[in-house]
Amino acid sequence: MSVEKSFHMTPDEFRRHGHAVIDWIADYQSRVESFSVLSQAKPGQIRASLPANAPTQSEPFEALLKDVENLILPGVTHWQSPNFFAYFPCNASGPGILGDLLSSGLGVQGMLWSTSPACTELETHVLDWLVPMLGLPEKFLSSNTGGGVIQDTASSAALCALLAAREGATNYTTNKEGCDGRIVAYVSTQTHSSLQKAAMIAGIGVDNLRSIEVDDHFAMRPVALARRIEADKRAGLVPCFVCATVGTTSSNAMDPIAEIAAIAHQDNLWLHVDAAMSGTAALCPEFRHLQNGVELADSYNFNPHKWMFTDFDCNCFWVADRKALIQTLSILPEYLRNQATESGAVIDYRDWHIQLGRRFRSLKLWFVIRHYGVEGLQYHIRRHVELAQQFADWVRNDKDFELAAPAPLNLVCFRHKAGDVANQTIMDRLNRSGDLFLTHTKLHGNLTLRLCVGQTHTQAKHVERAWKRIREESDKLTTAA
Ligand SMILES: Cc1ncc(COP(=O)(O)O)c(C=O)c1O
Repeated sequence: MSVEKSFHMTPDEFRRHGHAVIDWIADYQSRVESFSVLSQAKPGQIRASLPANAPTQSEPFEALLKDVENLILPGVTHWQSPNFFAYFPCNASGPGILGDLLSSGLGVQGMLWSTSPACTELETHVLDWLVPMLGLPEKFLSSNTGGGVIQDTASSAALCALLAAREGATNYTTNKEGCDGRIVAYVSTQTHSSLQKAAMIAGIGVDNLRSIEVDDHFAMRPVALARRIEADKRAGLVPCFVCATVGTTSSNAMDPIAEIAAIAHQDNLWLHVDAAMSGTAALCPEFRHLQNGVELADSYNFNPHKWMFTDFDCNCFWVADRKALIQTLSILPEYLRNQATESGAVIDYRDWHIQLGRRFRSLKLWFVIRHYGVEGLQYHIRRHVELAQQFADWVRNDKDFELAAPAPLNLVCFRHKAGDVANQTIMDRLNRSGDLFLTHTKLHGNLTLRLCVGQTHTQAKHVERAWKRIREESDKLTTAA
């Protein structure tokens, strides 16, 4: 019998190369602080180092890893560096990486319960675990009227919530007939831009997405929301959806959920709560007051891939009424029909989000929760908040810097009193130095620096060094003047 020709990697080769990759990642973790946090690559630099055409013949695996080291690493911004303080974190961890690897190893596509029962059931189970872990309302449990699903990102979760709200407000006719231009939705001026994108995709249109003004602390003003809803109703429009944020992207502002819910529910609007990063803080009972009123939400989401040590991507999205979501997103072509679905006894997650196919993402979340335990997660979240609060104290007591917004958790917005040019100069120099990575926003029209503590391995020494470097750059400004 002839042996069939194959270019595939054998299990033994996989084992050998797999060990080398794990060793490479472990080494990377130990030396991550030796790299410039922000990649200093110039546009086009990485592509210029790659061959113009794909290889015709197989290359040895060792050459691939060598190229990762020599060609790819210079173009990597080190999100996993403990000196990464930019944007919001995207923190990874050993158990998260290994769970993700297992998901790849199993290679499951879990679009239906029947395409891998464990993929669906573990996900439902872990999302049910998280409900009491985060102090979320029982209506989000799968044993109740609601349930949770893992989405890729908070953007997708918001889109699904908006679509369900749109359908509910139009008696499920918009999916069929399209939007008539009368549907309106509400966010604040500080809501994440993903809601704008959701309004575009959902056919609501950004002109029909109302940006409600905020108070001095950048939180949505409920009175302004109520006024706008009334005006829209008088104009014959159909208000359907409000998004409240727990921890806005710019400044970590907390919208007053209970007050917003009271207004929203008066007119049957769907209330979505976006807690993308800050939702993780609810693991600690002492921070749960920041999302008071969450029990009134129709949907809620947070990103374990931001601050809960779970590798990107992993967004957890819950609804209070799963029927509304399923009725909005369900389509059952003949080729997906199966007995389990027909029996009504299973969840088919393809009806809970935009795409059909789905990865076995709950494995990494399950690994993270079991590795750390609730206590371990709480410990590290509390530590990040303590470090950020310590940083805020240094800013508060400094002659040259000031806080630009309240710092309720792990994000500190601050600025040099000398104005925008000084702040831009300090940030550019710090980021070019590679010692740390900070980003900015604009608050009250002023360029503001943001320091977010949330990378898995950030410790006191990293935050102390960040402050020292910020002070040094500030001193250089004074000397140069
Ligand atoms: C409050 C908030 N919502 C939504 C998002 C979008 O997150 P994702 O990348 O998961 O779509 C972000 C991202 O930083 C965010 O800060």
